[in-house]
Amino acid sequence: MFLLINFSLILVFTALFVGAKEIANPCKNPKIDAIIWSSKLRKNTSLLIFNQNYFYEFDFENEELGEGRRINEVWSQIKTPIDGATALRLLINKTSMKFFEEEIMFFKDPKYWVYKSKEKYDKNEELIRSGIFKFYGVHNNHIHKSLSFTLSRKNPRSPYRTIYTGINNMYFVCGSLERKQIRMNEYEMVIGDPSLNSTDLAPNVNECKSYGKKYGDLIGDVEKRLYMNRLYLIHVNEKALVIAYSDDSGTTFKTVQMKKSHFLMLK
Ligand SMILES: *[C@@H]1O[C@H](CO)[C@@H](O)[C@H](O)[C@H]1NC(C)=O
Ligand SMILES: *[C@@H]1O[C@H](CO)[C@@H](O)[C@H](O)[C@H]1NC(C)=O
Ligand SMILES: *[C@@H]1O[C@H](CO)[C@@H](O)[C@H](O)[C@H]1NC(C)=O
Repeated sequence: MFLLINFSLILVFTALFVGAKEIANPCKNPKIDAIIWSSKLRKNTSLLIFNQNYFYEFDFENEELGEGRRINEVWSQIKTPIDGATALRLLINKTSMKFFEEEIMFFKDPKYWVYKSKEKYDKNEELIRSGIFKFYGVHNNHIHKSLSFTLSRKNPRSPYRTIYTGINNMYFVCGSLERKQIRMNEYEMVIGDPSLNSTDLAPNVNECKSYGKKYGDLIGDVEKRLYMNRLYLIHVNEKALVIAYSDDSGTTFKTVQMKKSHFLMLK
């Protein structure tokens, strides 16, 4: 009898252990927390998709979802589930589709973490820096999700960047400045301060300005990038990964084409 109980306990533990190893299941909680469209990955149609404690490589061209990996196995400092992620990326040559991209950033309101952008991620990637987002004005009870940046063309390493972010599920564009906090080994990202004035920011980019609901509810994350001579805007809401692109090859979305992929339906 005793042996039998012991044996069944071992079985239960084994089942739990096997179960724990197999919970990289995007259908369990089919919601996308964040996406990264990195120019460093081998495939230019690959997104990194973040869901709860795991991330996946997703090819939006042939709609293939790769194996799940634990986020904290690669980037151990990040608190999951995250609220946004992005590659700090700038297209520097349109003809050869060359990008400047050295870093990726993760965001969980109000904290962020910066790591090296790579073609492949190993276990325990080294943290470059971390800090907190400081939205200008009183936004304490606002929901902050989603993250995307445009770097300065003149000076891609400038701490002044144009940020695209979601405030209460609406898409906003604001100026931002990243600076080291005095007496602390931490940074802060000042966002939407009307006094931000630098030649590294486009004219009139400082205060947060809303895009309204032009692209629907922005529940999750967003990535914006030129690809195949079209400006792509990929965003996630509660139900879908929405891929929109302009057909005018410019920076506006006068003609928007939509392409939808439902995460729930992917296996
Ligand atoms: C951009 O890339 C093209 C093709 O590789 C090259 O001919 C051109 O000189 C590059 N332009 C600049 C500004 O570097
Ligand atoms: C920004 O600063 C420049 C010079 O530092 C100044 O000429 C310009 O008027 C300022 N712009 C605003 C909007 O304050
Ligand atoms: C996408 O990647 C393929 C293969 O690496 C390359 O041949 C192609 O030029 C890339 N296209 C764009 C638009 O970057």
